[in-house]
This record gives sequence, structure tokens and C-alpha cells, in this order.
Amino acid sequence: MKAAFLPTFLLELALLSWRISAAPVPANEVCTLDGYQFKCQNGVWPRDKDMTFPAVTDQTTALHFEKFTFHEENLRPLPAVNLTNLGILTFDNVTVWNSAGKSVGLPLQQLTQRLNRVSVTTLRITDTEVGVLDASYFTGFRGLLSLSIKYCTVESVTPDAFQPLRLEGGGSVLTELQFSANKGVKTFPWDAIVPVAPSIRVSILPSQNHYPKYGDNR
Ligand SMILES: *[C@@H]1O[C@H](CO)[C@@H](O)[C@H](O)[C@H]1NC(C)=O
Ligand SMILES: *[C@@H]1O[C@H](CO)[C@@H](O)[C@H](O)[C@H]1NC(C)=O
Repeated sequence: MKAAFLPTFLLELALLSWRISAAPVPANEVCTLDGYQFKCQNGVWPRDKDMTFPAVTDQTTALHFEKFTFHEENLRPLPAVNLTNLGILTFDNVTVWNSAGKSVGLPLQQLTQRLNRVSVTTLRITDTEVGVLDASYFTGFRGLLSLSIKYCTVESVTPDAFQPLRLEGGGSVLTELQFSANKGVKTFPWDAIVPVAPSIRVSILPSQNHYPKYGDNR
């Protein structure tokens, strides 16, 4: 019995150390660098392995995910090294699978946990399941000038969803907010935009009939 147990144990140990020491994946195996922008298209984010990005100068850098797949289990966040000036982050037609093979909301916080989120000025999410937009979804994204969520599946929006964009002294730097053509969300809590309303210059908010008109619900 002991003899049968031992090889399994050794195998597990080997697997574990392989997981820990798995060599990072160079970004150019999954994404292409186009000027100052990384485009990650039609690919899968490596599982259990870190990605390494080459250094680009201090110019604004952008990272675009399009028709891209992530796996929620053991998701490795974007690395901090060489992405310190990431200004534009977009997700278009991104799918995230959980371990049960079910698609889940984009784990934005987990994916960006090592980034200096305040450097991100543009965040655009389209054709992607985002899940629940609550007070923790945008934590750290105080530098956002433009936020767009369109053609997504949004489970719900809580009234404090945009609270993390507030600066310490009040107000925000957000000038453009687009939230439209999203599926799933039944009501839009208009109070959510209060923290960012003073700075917004352009906004396209839900116009579908089933949303209450501004003021109806106060
Ligand atoms: C950062 O960029 C440099 C230069 O492109 C590269 O040699 C280095 O491996 C990168 N570091 C990481 C951790 O990606
Ligand atoms: C998203 O990507 C899938 C798979 O590549 C494709 O079949 C689908 O048409 C895309 N959806 C949109 C809205 O572009």
C-alpha cells in the first residue's frame, strides 16, 4: 500500500514544483507589439504562468485583448514589470471560463492587481461578460478619463459602482462615460454617477425603454 502511495505523492510533488517554477511566457508568443500597443487577439492567456512584456519607452502604452480567452482558475495577473505606463486597457469579445466550464465575469481586479491602476486613463470593455459592477470592480482606477462598457453582459450595477473613481478631495477626473447597449442589467442606479458627474463632459447612458428616466427613481 505504501509503495502504491509513494509514486503518486512524488508525481504530485513534481507537478507542484513544475507549477511553481513554470517559465514565464514572453508576450510575443501570445500578443503582438504594434508601436506602443500590445494586441492580444484570438488567443488564450497562459495558465499558471506569468507573462512577461518587453519594455516600451515612457510613451503611453496600450494593451488590447480581442477575441481572447482567460481561465479564472489560477489566473496569473498582468505583470508590473514593463507595464508601469499602461494607459489604455481594452477588452473586446473576451471570454473567461471557470473551472466548471462556465463563462464568468471579467475578473478585472484580479487581472490588474499588480498594475499601477491609477496610470490607466482609458478602460474600454465591449462584447464581454462583466458580472456585477459594484464598489470593488473599479478599485484603484482613479486616473480614468474615459470609461466605456458597451454591448456587454452586466448582471447588475450597484449605486456605489463608480465610487472608487472619486479622488480624495472629491470629484473625479473622468470626462467620458459610456454605458450602453448592455444586456442583463435591469435597472441602472442613477445615483451611481453622482461621484463622477461633475467632471463628465460626454456620456452615453442607457436609453432603452425599460430603464427609468433620470429622476423617476429618486
Ligand atoms: C522588461 O523589458 C526588457 C527589455 O525589453 C526585457 O529584457 C525584460 O525581460 C523585461 N522584464 C520582464 C520581467 O518582462
Ligand atoms: C466573438 O468571438 C466569437 C469567437 O471568435 C465570434 O464567433 C463572435 O462572432 C464574436 N462576437 C462579436 C460580437 O464579434
